[in-house]
Amino acid sequence: MSDSRISGLYRLDVDERVARLQESGWLSDADANRLREGLCVLPTAAADRMIENVVGVFGLPFAIAPNFVVNGREHIVPLVVEEPSIVAGLSSAAALAREAGGFEVASRGSLLIGQIHVSNIPDADHAIAALAKNKPALLESANKIHPRLVARGGGVREIETRLFELPDGRPLIAVHVLVDTCDAMGANLVNSICEEIAPDIAAACDGDVALRILSNLADRSLYTARARFTLPSEVRDAIVTANDIALVDPYRAATHNKGVMNGVDALAIATGNDWRAIEAGAHAYAAAGGRYQALTHWSVAENGELLGEIKLPLKVGTVGGTLANNPSAALGLSLTGVASASELAELMAAVGLAQNFAALRALATHGIQAGHMKLHARSVAASAGAPDALFDDVVAQLIESGEIKDWKAREILAALQAQTSESNESTGLAAGKVILLGEHGVVYGRHALALPIPDAVAVTLTEADALMHDLPVEFVDLLLDQLGVENRNWRIGIDSSLPFGKGLGSSAAIAVAIVRAFNQKLDLGPDDARVNAIAFECEKMAHGTPSGVDNTLSTYAQPMLFRNDGGLEVTTIEVEEEPSLLIAWGDEKGRTSELVAGVRSRRDEMPKHFDAIFDEMDSLSLQGADLLRSGSWQELGALMNVCHGLLNAIGVSTPTLERMVALARQAGAAGAKLTGAGGGGSIVALCPDGVDVVEEALRQSGYQTLVPGRYDRK
Ligand code: MEV
Repeated sequence: MSDSRISGLYRLDVDERVARLQESGWLSDADANRLREGLCVLPTAAADRMIENVVGVFGLPFAIAPNFVVNGREHIVPLVVEEPSIVAGLSSAAALAREAGGFEVASRGSLLIGQIHVSNIPDADHAIAALAKNKPALLESANKIHPRLVARGGGVREIETRLFELPDGRPLIAVHVLVDTCDAMGANLVNSICEEIAPDIAAACDGDVALRILSNLADRSLYTARARFTLPSEVRDAIVTANDIALVDPYRAATHNKGVMNGVDALAIATGNDWRAIEAGAHAYAAAGGRYQALTHWSVAENGELLGEIKLPLKVGTVGGTLANNPSAALGLSLTGVASASELAELMAAVGLAQNFAALRALATHGIQAGHMKLHARSVAASAGAPDALFDDVVAQLIESGEIKDWKAREILAALQAQTSESNESTGLAAGKVILLGEHGVVYGRHALALPIPDAVAVTLTEADALMHDLPVEFVDLLLDQLGVENRNWRIGIDSSLPFGKGLGSSAAIAVAIVRAFNQKLDLGPDDARVNAIAFECEKMAHGTPSGVDNTLSTYAQPMLFRNDGGLEVTTIEVEEEPSLLIAWGDEKGRTSELVAGVRSRRDEMPKHFDAIFDEMDSLSLQGADLLRSGSWQELGALMNVCHGLLNAIGVSTPTLERMVALARQAGAAGAKLTGAGGGGSIVALCPDGVDVVEEALRQSGYQTLVPGRYDRK
């Protein structure tokens, strides 16, 4: 069985994707060639034999979602659908589910119901008794209709009777013929059985045949899929609430179940199955309890995982019908790797659950439109020339305006620029920092390589009647003392894109930006060295014995190699091209002092091993600086991955950080690692092909992200 994990498919073109599926064994050489040459499309002549009045064939996108594991089997899911985000959502949900073993799907039988409705019955009790008496004979004659079905192990298993009253008060008997159709969906088989035995049934009831056809409420073929997901608690709880809403509100349940069917239908079409029959069955089943409800249930497991379950009727086929005539459907089916109709139904149930998970996760985090809108707004803001300092404001106002257009971005930008110059505010900007290689090693005199997060903090300073700010009082007092500012009547406003306590140098950047704002306001004239020294004093107050890395990087905003062996040595790295980085964090917080102390005590127990690790970190940082200079991103990414492994080895990673790193790498990052002290905090991913897909993958899982802006290259 081939591994269904295929990462980075989105980065390939269509031919390359086909080649990748061929290499990994999911596509035969013949099918790959047919796809390349466009021979998998239904020929018009074949279409003309399928329905009436054909004038051509109609195209839809044919895609695949990798990563599925169902009952321990690997599957690729073929999907025919026109709506964006369905394929991406499924792939990422499947990747997440496989971390806990994938989907488990169970079924109770796989019978299709045929119905014979008998009306004009003179005596309903008598008719029911006659049907019960004749049941063995009826079963026997029904099974003579398709001897080959019986030979394959299928056939009519049971005959059941249901009594109704028609609106005008007349009795109606519905006779159910339960048929095992083996690997066929079975509509034709069951319809022909119904038609053949209907006269005998009507005769037994002394009534008339009203209808004789299958039922699409296929509740004798129910499939239950389950999966577990590890998520930040607020996202998990929001998904449970979203599901609870769809259990009580039928208006929401309809949209909720539409999301489920987005995946189920796309797979049904790709494998030549009758998606309308599946839709009808699913919605009828959703209302079976007397009120239309969600098909899924989400809850929290004892260990805090999110547990998902879907139960729905699925009667599908892997032989006959469209499959025989439509080459695309045959290809879709062969891509799934299923060996029987019930395996296909199991996969379909898993897809329904995964699709619902993807929709609820998106709704619980940034909303369905937000992801698309934000990407679009960013590119419009960039093309309108929004500078870093105003970039986020332009993006936010664009989204808020609902007009994500170039002219709107220029209008917003002009207004923001006018506002800044008219106000009597002064501003100060400062960079955050992200350690690319060598954290913790730096505490033991080894090199670390760090990069700035330019203009991450902006401070605005305005005159006020008193000192107004949201910072620790002693921090601001120290700053003003260091600056020699006697007038204390200021309003200090902080706009920071850096999360606090996530190892991104937030406190140093705030100090640097405040010093710069005062410099602009009062023309105090401290140069960068003085800005750095003042920020270092503030860092000492905030962190005890800081290394000086944060304030230096915040002040100079250049990539730097650091070493502190009794004194801080700094080498600025000149780069040809800036790396494309993404930073992400969850809700875990690490305490730097505790993490540094923990590493120290473990090192005390195993000094030889730990020192060897620190030596290796040193060499990674030095080599990484060269790769950064030359823009060798794949090699640099590989060093980041090694460094992450070493940080894990010294005990500063966490399961959440490991998941984030895995998500980033799976989504195409060349390298990803924890950054800073660890124990929570942030990760940094190097994304030479652009950050969008990696960012989307992390945000979809409930993590927050930051894309560092550009810095002035020296
Ligand atoms: C859109 O095709 C499907 C969703 O509306 C499903 C849902 O709301 O759960 C996103």
